[in-house]
Amino acid sequence: MVDWRIVYREIRVERISSDARRLAREYSYRPYMVQRYIEMLGYDETLELLKAFEKKPKPVIRCNDLRVECKWLMERLEELGFKLEHIDWSLHGYRVLKEPRQPSLGATHEYLKGYYYIHRDSPPLIPGLLLEGDREPRKVLDTCAAPGGKATHLAQLMSGEGLVVANDLVLYRLVALVSHVLRMGFRNIVVTWSDLKKLPRLLETRFARVLVDAPCSGEGVIMFDPSRKFKTTQKDLAVIVAREIGLLEAALELLEPNGLLAYVTCSIALEENEYVVSKILARNPSIKVVKPPVKLFKWSSGVKEYMGLELDSSVRECIRVWPHIHGTMGMTICLLTKT
Ligand SMILES: C[S@@+](CC[C@H](N)C(=O)[O-])C[C@H]1O[C@@H](n2cnc3c(N)ncnc32)[C@H](O)[C@@H]1O
Repeated sequence: MVDWRIVYREIRVERISSDARRLAREYSYRPYMVQRYIEMLGYDETLELLKAFEKKPKPVIRCNDLRVECKWLMERLEELGFKLEHIDWSLHGYRVLKEPRQPSLGATHEYLKGYYYIHRDSPPLIPGLLLEGDREPRKVLDTCAAPGGKATHLAQLMSGEGLVVANDLVLYRLVALVSHVLRMGFRNIVVTWSDLKKLPRLLETRFARVLVDAPCSGEGVIMFDPSRKFKTTQKDLAVIVAREIGLLEAALELLEPNGLLAYVTCSIALEENEYVVSKILARNPSIKVVKPPVKLFKWSSGVKEYMGLELDSSVRECIRVWPHIHGTMGMTICLLTKT
């Protein structure tokens, strides 16, 4: 267990500049948040970031090629009045550039028949392609899986073979996951309802691939939920970070030696990403950061210097997707292995 008070003492922002206060007022953020962006990016890029958070990206659908031929699906959706563009680095992702007045994306017969999954944006397609890009059927654990975007992606990439254990703590969220699994027709997903912290004791088996899509502050999805500009106090952030360290540590116990774990947050906060990973590395000498096996597009590297925090230099291998650089929601992904 990591004490959030220790985390708080380490990550607390004490001095807030007049620039940060002014931008925070203008864009309605908590000033400490903007101060951290200035520390990480400098003033000009912070301004670009804040502007990018005001723009909502268009949704993305993932064609379920186990149920339908993707070319046919795209033609059918275009007949209905949708305009789609293939996301070139993803196997099955299409950006929805235009939608008709009716039907909505979630109300077509094709959706109800399980021919596609709706993602808010394209970055959620990255973790699956990093873990299962070679499409080898394996034993995979998605520790925080509901409502199932990434678990169904993993199951699809394994061509409906292998095994995905999709776990979550929250029952009503699992109901949504189960409905996607049934709608899309996956037979290689087993659903469990448990606190991830209890799973190492409950499950005897260990996994070749593990995904931790952590419950985070959501500091990368402000464009979808502007309340996140002021929802999280510095103390709340410390509590979230301490929880993330605990969850990641439990997930690593479930990883086979030489297996691959993806630690993912939809947050651009360094505290929730490079800092969490550095803490894990300092506490567990058998854990290492791994370079991504493929470069899907020109993503940014992890940040290894920030506000005097002690960060492991290997966090540079983490992947960052920034709203102002990539035109998408923010996401951070670190790949880890156990020797
Ligand atoms: C970011 S969401 C996961 C989104 C999902 N991976 C997807 O792609 O659709 C984080 C999830 O973690 C779950 N969660 C929170 N605390 C947990 C815990 N202690 N054990 C397992 N799951 C937990 C939440 O219920 C939530 O569904």
